[in-house]
Amino acid sequence: MDQKLLNRFNYLKSLHLDIDMSRGKPSKEQLDLSNKMNDVLSSQSDYKSLDGLDVRNYGGLEGIKEARQLMGDVLGIDYQNVLVLGNSSLSAMYEQIARSFIYGVCGNTPWSKLEKVQWLCPIPGYDRHFAMLEHFGIEMISVPYYNDGPDMDLIEALVNEENIKGIWIVPKFSNPLGITYSDEVIRRLARLKPAAKDFRIYVDNAYALHDFEGDVKLLNIYEEAKKVGNEDILYLFTSTSKLSFPGSGIAAIGASENNIKDITSHLKYQTISYDKINQLRHVRFFKNKEGLKEHALKHGQILLRKFKIVDEYLSKYCSDVAAWNTPKGGYFVTLKVKGVAKEVVARCKECGVKLTEAGATHPYHNDPTNSYIRLAPSYLSDKDLSLAMEIICLSILLESV
Ligand SMILES: Cc1ncc(COP(=O)(O)O)c(C=O)c1O
Repeated sequence: MDQKLLNRFNYLKSLHLDIDMSRGKPSKEQLDLSNKMNDVLSSQSDYKSLDGLDVRNYGGLEGIKEARQLMGDVLGIDYQNVLVLGNSSLSAMYEQIARSFIYGVCGNTPWSKLEKVQWLCPIPGYDRHFAMLEHFGIEMISVPYYNDGPDMDLIEALVNEENIKGIWIVPKFSNPLGITYSDEVIRRLARLKPAAKDFRIYVDNAYALHDFEGDVKLLNIYEEAKKVGNEDILYLFTSTSKLSFPGSGIAAIGASENNIKDITSHLKYQTISYDKINQLRHVRFFKNKEGLKEHALKHGQILLRKFKIVDEYLSKYCSDVAAWNTPKGGYFVTLKVKGVAKEVVARCKECGVKLTEAGATHPYHNDPTNSYIRLAPSYLSDKDLSLAMEIICLSILLESV
C-alpha cells in the first residue's frame, strides 16, 4: 500500500469530518432560489383558480386548472389527463401500486389475489423504487442498461410473461446513470405489447427539466403510444420537488382517459382535495413551463459547478482505476470501481464521508459485481465536496491496490 496515500488518508481521518453525500438533496443555495414563492400569496391576494375555485376551500380533486396545465406541459400531455396531487411523486407511485394490489388496474384481478407479481428493473436504478417494490413483495427482475436506455430486446421478450406487471423508467437523466433514453428506446417502450392487460410503464420523469444548460430532448412517450392506440400502458409522474422545495412541491400523474377514470374512481374515497394553495403558489411563481425551465437552469448552473468538482478529482486521481459518467443534468454520478465498491464506501465512512450504500443501485441491495457507487454532489458546499472527493479518490486508490 502506498505509504504517502495512507498518511494523507490518516491525516484526513484525524479531522473527524462529518460529511453526508448519500442523498440527492438540493443545497441551501438552490432552495434560496424559490424563497420568493412564499410571498406570492398574501392577505390581499385573489385566491380564485382559473376554474373558479376558492383554493382555500374544499373541492377540486383533480387539482386546479392552471396547475394541471403546468404539470401537463411538463409531462407532455393534455391538462385534462392530469391529476395534481400532494407534495410527492414517489408517494403517488406508491399509492398507484397499492391500488393495484387492493382493487386491480382498470377492472383486472387485484394483485393481492395473484400468486406472484413481478417487475422489470433497469439497473443500476433508483434505490427507493427497489425498496418500494420489495416492501410490496413484488419480485424484481434486473434488466441491464445500455448508453441509450434499458435492453429493449430483453424487455420485449420478458413482457410475454403474464406475471410481469410493470417497469419503472426514469427516461431523462436517469437516477443514477444520468442517461436520457434515445428515440428508438422510447418508441419501443411505447409500442410494448405485454401479455398482462394490467401491465403499466411507470414513467418517473423526476428530472424532466433538470438540464444543467441547454435542453436535452426526450421523445414524448405518450404521443408515441397514442399513435398506436397503446396509451393505456402508461402512467406519467413528475414533481417540482427539486425545483421548488422537496417535500413542499407539487406532484402530478398524467395518463390516458381510461387510467385517469380508474384512478379517480378510487381517489374520490381517499381525499376531498389536495393542497390547492400550494398549487396556486407554484403557478403564480413559475407562471408556465418556460418559467419553470428558466428557474431550472439557475439550479443547473449551481449543479454543474458541483459536478465539475467531482469530475476534476476523479480525472486527476482515478482515471486508471475507476470509470464514471459525466451527465448533462439530473442529480447523480455513477462511479464504477471494479469489485471494491463496498470496501470504498466503508473506507469513506471511516474517514467521515457518508456515501449511498454500495449495492443500493440494485434490487435486493445485490450488485453482483460489487462495482457501483452512486455519488450525490448537490447538497455539499464546494469546500466539503472537494474534501469528500479527495477522500473518495484516496479510498479508491487504497482499495484498488
Ligand atoms: C427518480 C426519482 N423519482 C422520484 C424522486 C422523489 O420525488 P418526489 O420528491 O416527488 O417524491 C426522486 C428523488 O430523488 C428521484 O430521484
